Amino acid sequence: AARPGERRSIVLVGLMGAGKSAIGKRLAARLDLPFHDSDHEIEAAAGLSVADIFERHGEAHFRAGERRVIARLLSGGPIVLATGGGAFMDAATRALVAARGISVWLRAPVPVLLRRVAGRTHRPLLNAGDPAEILHRLSALRAPVYAGADIIIDSSEDPPEMTTDMTMAAL
Ligand code: S3P
Repeated sequence: AARPGERRSIVLVGLMGAGKSAIGKRLAARLDLPFHDSDHEIEAAAGLSVADIFERHGEAHFRAGERRVIARLLSGGPIVLATGGGAFMDAATRALVAARGISVWLRAPVPVLLRRVAGRTHRPLLNAGDPAEILHRLSALRAPVYAGADIIIDSSEDPPEMTTDMTMAAL
């Protein structure tokens, strides 16, 4: 656990389309903390897009990179971190987040998520079949794990950054 008075990192978790990046950027500006996005860090480290990493090296390889990147990002001073939707499913990552930061689950119903991710083709998991079906399945699988976050915020309002004040207030 953090020492009293120590500023902790804020780690945003939740499904694709939950608003992790949009809200994270605003939160970081308000809190005067650096903002990081684990997907972007992985892309920079690999020199490949997330979709290309999945395609060329497979999801397991991506997950290993994701775990390493998040560990590195949380090893320094406090930041606001938007994680990829699957990152919090990893037990080691959850333990690290619990030790170094405050986790926030940005929760929104599947129809809202679907509307937000519609037409965006850079998410390999959604290209594997019917996006509605996939999001419903991921939601059922992940919600019980996301529910272990320290704070839960309903992010179904549009645009998602509208929820920034509510998130600030809950921190
Ligand atoms: C994933 C979510 C994506 C990205 C990858 C896998 C997931 O991030 O990490 O495509 O497993 O939910 P966003 O949640 O930022 O879209």
